[in-house]
Amino acid sequence: MPMRVAVCVSGGGSNLEALFEAFSKPGDTAVDIALVLSDRAGAGGLARARGRGVPAEVLEDPADGAEWLRRLQHHRIELVVLAGYLKRVPAQVVAEFRDRIINVHPALLPAFGGEGMYGKRVHAAVLASGARESGCTVHLVDEEYDRGPVLAQARVAVEPGDTPDSLAARVLAAEHLLLPAVVREAARRGRPVPLRSL
Ligand code: GRF
Repeated sequence: MPMRVAVCVSGGGSNLEALFEAFSKPGDTAVDIALVLSDRAGAGGLARARGRGVPAEVLEDPADGAEWLRRLQHHRIELVVLAGYLKRVPAQVVAEFRDRIINVHPALLPAFGGEGMYGKRVHAAVLASGARESGCTVHLVDEEYDRGPVLAQARVAVEPGDTPDSLAARVLAAEHLLLPAVVREAARRGRPVPLRSL
């Protein structure tokens, strides 16, 4: 039986697309992306989902844990993937899906994480720090932003002359490999587990 996965997005959804591509090969039945959830009706990820015939739902109140749980239970979701989802997941959902919610963050946590550290700000902070490398992290979600146990990281070089945009593009390409790898391993093992770094 495929693992039933919900993917939560706030924006463009390129990580969602990478997941669709990773798990839509004929004969590959590891993962069923059974629901895409968003806090924003205009999130590009919703359109990607609808284009593939996958239920795409907008949370009426992203802070309402009961609404989340109703939707996740209705679709019999086993794993929740935050792929560019920017709001806090309600504590009730974290408790009910303990160790079954993962997030992808565009830096090497625990550095450059926490509330307000998202998008360009992350990459600008990495460049300002003078770090020679950056990367991405997939971690379990707990009650704090970007603090749950790390499952996997991928490293990329910071190149001379990098801008937040050029660094973001390099990191995003790494995310598109790392996140599907963690989800595939979660499906194989029945729950998210640490992965050797790529
Ligand atoms: C990614 O960099 C992800 O790490 C961060 O938000 C971005 C989402 O990009 N949390 P996309 O919507 O998947 O294209």
